[in-house]
Amino acid sequence: MSGVSEEFADPRLVALHDSWDPVRADIPFLVDLAAQLPARSIVDLGCGTGRLAVELALRGHQVTAVDPSPAMLEHARHRPGASLVRWTEGDASCLGVAEYDLAVLAGQVVEVITDDRDLLATFTALRRALRPGGTLSFDSRNPITRCWLAWTPRTTRRLLADGVEAWFQDVHAEGDRVRYQTHYRFPDGTERVSHNERRFRSYAWLVHALADVGFAVDPMDYDDPNLVFLASATPPRPAVALRFEGTPPADWRAVIRYDPNDSVTVALADLDTVEVLARLRRLRVPAEMVYREARRLGLDWDPEREVHRRSEADMSAWRQRDREHRERLKHDFLRRRSED
Ligand SMILES: C[S@@+](CC[C@H](N)C(=O)[O-])C[C@H]1O[C@@H](n2cnc3c(N)ncnc32)[C@H](O)[C@@H]1O
Repeated sequence: MSGVSEEFADPRLVALHDSWDPVRADIPFLVDLAAQLPARSIVDLGCGTGRLAVELALRGHQVTAVDPSPAMLEHARHRPGASLVRWTEGDASCLGVAEYDLAVLAGQVVEVITDDRDLLATFTALRRALRPGGTLSFDSRNPITRCWLAWTPRTTRRLLADGVEAWFQDVHAEGDRVRYQTHYRFPDGTERVSHNERRFRSYAWLVHALADVGFAVDPMDYDDPNLVFLASATPPRPAVALRFEGTPPADWRAVIRYDPNDSVTVALADLDTVEVLARLRRLRVPAEMVYREARRLGLDWDPEREVHRRSEADMSAWRQRDREHRERLKHDFLRRRSED
């Protein structure tokens, strides 16, 4: 299996893992996502040292955390709150069927699954493990930035926990596959080397792979240096019934039934009409069924008006940016003239 280099397998290097990124913006994002969906049961695949898994479990979610590295799991099990998480050694192939509302691969796990067949098998197993309409979230660095070109010993040198110095060297790229070494120098003078490999797959590759195995991908910024994917597990068949519950807009849910034993509840809180229609379309709820339910509740729905309102808002944001840009040009011009 691709993915477990020395940095994930050697207990001395695993102990340093969290100090590469002491502050992680993705963890609050994923904690928020889990609360918003809301996700009762979550699988954190490639959980590493268990930072995210424990955060989620402390907030009351049922969390299964999976990783093929025994050293990573051993470290995770010593974290305060670790007893709230179900830890499993393995990869996605050990997951069951339709058990989870949310699956996450945080901290660019897909990059370390370098073999395409392994990654496709991982996505397929995650699709099976999610309930229909369940959400998959992961991130992967965008190959358009060629970030590895900046990986020299000088630019990557860091002081990690316990005074350990670390840096990248010997970086070799072949297309989107990048091999490099991480050198560690401990205060007692000992050194360790991790031989790493990453794949930086393109947005298009990942979108197609997800579609092939039954995920619908939310629109996202494909120019971003870090691609953040949110995808829904597409139900295998169209919905047969729909009921809205709760009070719009703050506490509003759709209960969708696919057959007598299979129904899902999705949060619609704070979505506008167009977003509700898009989310339900991805869940294979026929538009006619949505309108019928909206009429039954006496909702004043006008998607066209909503689209118009949005494009007006976009235009006014554009006009504002344009005005600021011209102001800046004028200011620069006046400054230069006064300097001449
Ligand atoms: C970059 S670390 C990320 C760890 C953690 N998710 C985080 O956010 O800190 C990648 C993790 O993926 C795990 N891994 C490697 N191959 C894997 C596979 N095929 N399936 C699941 N996890 C894998 C490694 O053992 C390692 O713990």
